Amino acid sequence: MPVDGAAVLNALPDPVLVVGDGDEILYVNSAAEQLFRASFAYLKMKVLTDIIPHDSPVLLLLGRVRRSGSTMSQHAVRLDTPRIGEHLVRVDAAPMSENQERVVLTLQKQSIAGRIDRSLTHRDSTRSVSAMAALLAHEIKNPLSGVRGAAQLLEQSLDPEDAQLTRLIVEETDRIVGLIDRMEAFTGEIPFDALGPVNIHEVLERVLTLARTGFASHLRVVERYDPSLPPVYGNGDRLIQAFLNLVKNAAEAAPRDGGEIVVTTAFQHGVRLAAPGVDAPMQLPLVVTVQDNGPGIPDDLRRHIFDPFVTTKRGGTGLGLPLVAKLIGDLGGVIDLESRPRRTIFRILLPMAREGGSHRD
Ligand SMILES: Nc1ncnc2c1ncn2[C@@H]1O[C@H](COP(=O)(O)OP(=O)(O)OP(=O)(O)O)[C@@H](O)[C@H]1O
Ligand SMILES: [Mg+2]
Repeated sequence: MPVDGAAVLNALPDPVLVVGDGDEILYVNSAAEQLFRASFAYLKMKVLTDIIPHDSPVLLLLGRVRRSGSTMSQHAVRLDTPRIGEHLVRVDAAPMSENQERVVLTLQKQSIAGRIDRSLTHRDSTRSVSAMAALLAHEIKNPLSGVRGAAQLLEQSLDPEDAQLTRLIVEETDRIVGLIDRMEAFTGEIPFDALGPVNIHEVLERVLTLARTGFASHLRVVERYDPSLPPVYGNGDRLIQAFLNLVKNAAEAAPRDGGEIVVTTAFQHGVRLAAPGVDAPMQLPLVVTVQDNGPGIPDDLRRHIFDPFVTTKRGGTGLGLPLVAKLIGDLGGVIDLESRPRRTIFRILLPMAREGGSHRD
């Protein structure tokens, strides 16, 4: 007996939808009917924005898939509407082979990502998530080094064509280890004694040297510093890590021809912010900006770029900005951002080191 494709789709636990060129819903499987609490007969009279939020990153994803004709995914997409409640999903979007304006969407429930995400805003739960992440990192890295070693051994006895495959294993395991290393940076708060006065210009010097000799060597990098700036209250390594991520993003956004990154420092009086868990408002007078002349960040993406796993880059982890937010947040600092085409500015406000080591007033 031939297998019925529709029956297969209905047996899948993950929701599957097909949308047409005007985002009209052409098909849903049973799991999607359950998720959206509506029948296929009802849904096929609707467009996607009737069932998901109008500013959902899924709509951006659809546009990109139609333009590129290739399959793309987005992690940590929130689907919350009064009708279906709150869900965190990973969305895979694939163009149909016969008509690339039609896109197949597959949704997978996510949980670990959601927990990491919430830990960034709810500090209380950070500790348990950190412990879990550290454990996971340890448990994954050990067997991976075994996998990598075995692939390298195998490679020696293979002909060159098959050796491509073992090289792929090695490269992909390296990529996973890299990803886990970045996740590990989320674990744990900075020990109190690792905080102190830091010369922010030395931090930026290190970052820009790395940039100029490596990933930004094709760009113009401009420094506009206020040389009289007092020291920041923080940790040099963490600050290098944070600014390296921002400058790297700027370099990746800037155009190949005429690309420019501008880094500035300044002192700004009177910026006081009430930070969670601190009685007196903190003063954050040190301002560092990282600007690029790339295409800018569209409004609907901007709301999500500090969420983990949100990326528009091939091979990107989407952990860069969440890490920056965590590192700066741990110091009591604040990030904001302003973006339009040819002018994207990340602005970091940092506390000043006081004599006697306290940064609070
Ligand atoms: N300066 C910028 N200009 C335009 N878009 C940006 C800029 N900085 C960040 N973005 C957008 O925000 C997304 C998330 O950035 P993030 O640094 O968190 O991850 P990523 O750069 O994609 O991956 P990774 O940092 O692992 O290489 C990017 O994919 C990009 O779409
Ligand atoms: Mg990045």
